[in-house]
Parts: sequence; structure tokens; C-alpha cells
Amino acid sequence: MYIATLFLLVSTALAAPNHDLAPRQSTQKVTVDLTKRYQTIDGFGFSGAFQRANLIVNLKEPKQSEVLNLLFNRTTGAGFSIVRNGIGSSKTSQNDWMNTILPNCPATPAGTPEYKWDGKDSGQLWLSQKAWGYGVRTFYNDAWSAPGCMKTNGNDANGGQLCGVSGTNCKSGDWKQAYANYLVKNIQLYADSGVTITHIGFLNEPDMSTSYASMQSSGTQAAEFIKVLRPTLDAANLTSVGINCCEATGWNIASQHASQIASAGALPLVYAITSHEYTSRISGVMGTKARVWQTEYSDLNGGWSTAWYANGGSGDGYTWANTVFNGVVNSNLSAYIFWEGVQDRATNNNNNEKLILVDGQSYTVSKRLWAFAQFRVVRPGAVRVGASGGSNLKSGAFVNSDGSVAVVIINTGTGAQTVSVSLSGASSVNPTVRAWYTDNTHDMSETTVTVGSDGVASASVPGRGMISFLVSPAVNSTGPAI
Ligand SMILES: *[C@@H]1O[C@H](CO)[C@@H](O)[C@H](O)[C@H]1NC(C)=O
Ligand SMILES: *[C@@H]1O[C@H](CO)[C@@H](O)[C@H](O)[C@H]1NC(C)=O
Ligand SMILES: *[C@@H]1O[C@H](CO)[C@@H](O)[C@H](O)[C@H]1NC(C)=O
Ligand SMILES: *[C@@H]1O[C@H](CO)[C@@H](O)[C@H](O)[C@H]1NC(C)=O
Repeated sequence: MYIATLFLLVSTALAAPNHDLAPRQSTQKVTVDLTKRYQTIDGFGFSGAFQRANLIVNLKEPKQSEVLNLLFNRTTGAGFSIVRNGIGSSKTSQNDWMNTILPNCPATPAGTPEYKWDGKDSGQLWLSQKAWGYGVRTFYNDAWSAPGCMKTNGNDANGGQLCGVSGTNCKSGDWKQAYANYLVKNIQLYADSGVTITHIGFLNEPDMSTSYASMQSSGTQAAEFIKVLRPTLDAANLTSVGINCCEATGWNIASQHASQIASAGALPLVYAITSHEYTSRISGVMGTKARVWQTEYSDLNGGWSTAWYANGGSGDGYTWANTVFNGVVNSNLSAYIFWEGVQDRATNNNNNEKLILVDGQSYTVSKRLWAFAQFRVVRPGAVRVGASGGSNLKSGAFVNSDGSVAVVIINTGTGAQTVSVSLSGASSVNPTVRAWYTDNTHDMSETTVTVGSDGVASASVPGRGMISFLVSPAVNSTGPAI
């Protein structure tokens, strides 16, 4: 059996105490262990929900293509691999609301619904089609609420519950099956337009009631609906569409959802337990058998910032590099999805809940986008493997399905370091090693990788910078790649 250990030798260039001394080199070693296999990665993404996608639709060329490339291009942009769409529930498109395909329900749950599809879906269909063109194949359509006519409060906003789940008693009856049919219709409409929806959600922050689309649910009530939705998807030949649940406002509630769904026997019907990070941050590992996705988070309070490192605040790109790293490396997440990809200046006092500010016909890119770009070397289907060692360094390693190995490293020190990647112990023949880095003045810039005769590859990463290595597939290897 083949030795599955890759050594990363990290040389730290320490500043000389005075100018008479040459800089000293101290070597740190990060060990990548390909035999230690953890979760499978589904990808990284963002949303264009609540009509934000229209900001890109309305951009003129060449700016429109520039923004799309920043989001989806795998060689020049963030290379995002997941789009999270909002399934509208509102009767109108006033404010930034997402309109529903069922403005009026039939008189009874068994009646024939009259769906009205506008072919736009608040700009999200267009965005999804463009994403498809860039090779994105993971589309997560998620409803914030059922249409109001299916709910206890008769309104898609202001909380309320789905008629038919335990604890409800609606005069109009049980709308669980009708809601499942409605979600299937959304998937079919996207399929008719060339976009295969791979994941479906039916809640958003169900532990909260808001003045816009919102529907409340416990994990137990969600399980009741999941038991209706799964066979409905299967009967529509949508067996490969995964059900995600339940978009809790924070990790603590998501963990409750996971255990309630498991107690109700519905966990095998769930693809991913989904959490946001607003009311409690992701920490530790949830310990569920389902995959876990972080599906919506952003800095809602900070004033618009494009900085990589200003002061370590919640909008800094560097902070986001650490946030995403924590999710996928420390907390076993299979996906990390930011909130809005783009937003205008007027909304929420021009805060940091977007990656790109689109202001009429101009746009500005934040370093949060480049934090995600550093993870673009990790492709959907990658398996996280062991990586350890090195002071002032955080490292994560992933084997992509094409056999390449991605190693993402954050330099938490304030000084530049030379990172040396040694391929000793690997059976790769002349692997190609490339590396890219981001700091205050670089955006996923490719940097020179020097490969010595001993097979040691070196690259430099600035203080508080992030560097991503991609080691090309090994040729002629009999074991795992490299
Ligand atoms: C990504 O950007 C490169 C460089 O500009 C370009 O050649 C390529 O066509 C872009 N990819 C897509 C899918 O548009
Ligand atoms: C079901 O879906 C598969 C692809 O997912 C397709 O090949 C097949 O034709 C579909 N069958 C029906 C009855 O629609
Ligand atoms: C990590 O997630 C996977 C599913 O992606 C699961 O099978 C595994 O048990 C999880 N590991 C831990 C420690 O919870
Ligand atoms: C790699 O494999 C190919 C085809 O199997 C073979 O021709 C070639 O000699 C091998 N190269 C090395 C360096 O082993």
C-alpha cells in the first residue's frame, strides 16, 4: 500500500533583530495525511434572493460579465459552486419581495392549483442559467414560507405555521401535500428552463417571525412535512433532489432541529441539516449522520468595507477567510454559503451583507469575495483529509475528485512566511504545484512556486494572508492521488 502522507515544510522568515544579521529561517512542518478522511465537500455559494439578482440582470456589458466572472469564474473569480435561490411566497413584488407562483390557493387542499410563472423568479432564473453556463451544478431552492393561503395566519409574512403539521387546526384542512406539490412545481419550472435543482428547502429561520416571508416550525413539525415531501419528490421522478432542513438562525437551534428530526425518524430522508450563524456561531461538530451546511451568514452591522484586514472586524476579508475555514475544517461542514452575492447602496445602510456592491451601473468588490475565492481550489466532491502542524498557520487539505490535492493555509502571524511544500513520501511523478494568495493588495494572485531538486515547493505568504496550493493529479499513482 502506498504511503499517503504529504509533508508541507513551512519556513518562517523571521525579521532579523538588527540589520547586521541576515534573516534567519525557521522551518515548520504541516503534515497532510491522506489516510485520514473526513466529510465530503458540496461547495461554496451565495444567494441572489429578494430581487438582488436583478442588480446583475440590469448591468450593461461589459460590467455584467465582469460581475458574473467575479462570482463564478474558476480561474479569475471566486469560482462559486452553489447558488441558493429563494422560492417566493408573496402575492406581489413590492419592496424586495419574491412573488409566488401560487397567489391564490384552490378552495380546498385537494383542488387544482393555478400556478402563475413569470419566467423570471425575481432575476434568480437568469442568474441560475448564467451560473449553469459557468459549470455550477448545485442549485438549492429554498422557500422562506408557504403561500399564505396554506398557513395558520393566512399570510406568508409574520410567522404562522403550515396547516396540517401537529399543533395546527385549520378550517381549510391539511395543506402539507399541496405545499409539497408546489415545491415540486418550482423544481420542474427550473428544469424546463435548463437548470437542474439539486436541493430543496421549505423553511427559512423557522425559529423567528418577521414582517416579510417567514413560517415557524420545530424540527418535529418539519419532520412531519419531510415525510410527505420525500415521496412526492420521488413520485415526480425527482429522486436525486435532496431535502435540506431547517435554516435555523443559529447553530444551537440547528442542532435541536437535527435531534428532533432524528427522533421523528426522518433523518434518513434529509440530505443536509442547514444552519445560519446569526444567533449562535458554528462551533464544534454537530454530530449528526446527515451532512451539515451553513446556508446563510453575513455581517449585518458593519458599514461597507472592502478591506482584507482593517482591524479584524466582522466585515474584513481575513475574518471571513477564518469563518469559512472554521466551518469546513473545524466543524465538518460540507458547504458554506454567504448571504447576498450583490446588493445596492441603499439597502440596510450599505452594510456588509453583500460580497459586491452594485451601485447602478458601477460595482465595487469586497475582500470577502476573495476570501471565498481562496477556497475555489476545493471543488464539489472533494474529501477533506488530515492536515496538522505549523505555528501561526491554520491548514486544511482536500482531495478533489480529479485526484488533485488542495491545501488552504491562513497565516495568522503578522510577518511574511515562506511556505515550502515537500512532496516527499508521495508517489506522484513530477506533480505540478500552483499557489495563489490574498492580502490587502492581492486578490487570489498566482505566486511563483519554486520546486527544488528535492521536490520541495516553496511560495511566500504575507502576514495575515491566505495561500491556497493546488497539487496536480499524480500520474501513475496506484493509491490515492499524490
Ligand atoms: C473565465 O475567465 C477566463 C479569463 O478571462 C476566460 O478565458 C474564461 O472564458 C472564463 N470562463 C467562463 C466560463 O466564462
Ligand atoms: C426520470 O429522470 C431521469 C433522469 O433523472 C430520466 O432519464 C428519465 O427519463 C425520467 N423518467 C421519467 C418517467 O420522467
Ligand atoms: C461529518 O459529516 C459526515 C457527513 O458529511 C458524517 O458522516 C460524519 O459522521 C460527521 N463527523 C462527525 C464527527 O460528526
Ligand atoms: C506512466 O504510465 C504510462 C502508461 O501506463 C507509462 O507509459 C509511463 O512510462 C509511466 N511513467 C512513469 C514515470 O512511470
